[in-house]
Amino acid sequence: MSKFNTDAGMPIALTLDPGTYYRCACGQSQNLPFCDGSHQSAEHMPIEFKVSERKKVYLCSCGQTAKQPFCDGSCGVNITD
Ligand code: FES
Repeated sequence: MSKFNTDAGMPIALTLDPGTYYRCACGQSQNLPFCDGSHQSAEHMPIEFKVSERKKVYLCSCGQTAKQPFCDGSCGVNITD
């Protein structure tokens, strides 16, 4: 069972500066969609990803994507930009 917000089922669009980010995978973070260190076990460790230039990203919130942490359209949303 996914700990992602399956009620949402929509990608989270964010414009991020270059850097390393950690997508929360446990749902306990107070800084969603990013990890704040609240996870209590190794079962749902955050997903690290890097952004090399300022750009818009679409983070998966349904848990169905094959390209975590990014939305791949499995939710039915067509991302075209
Ligand atoms: S939000 Fe999960 S695949 Fe789009």
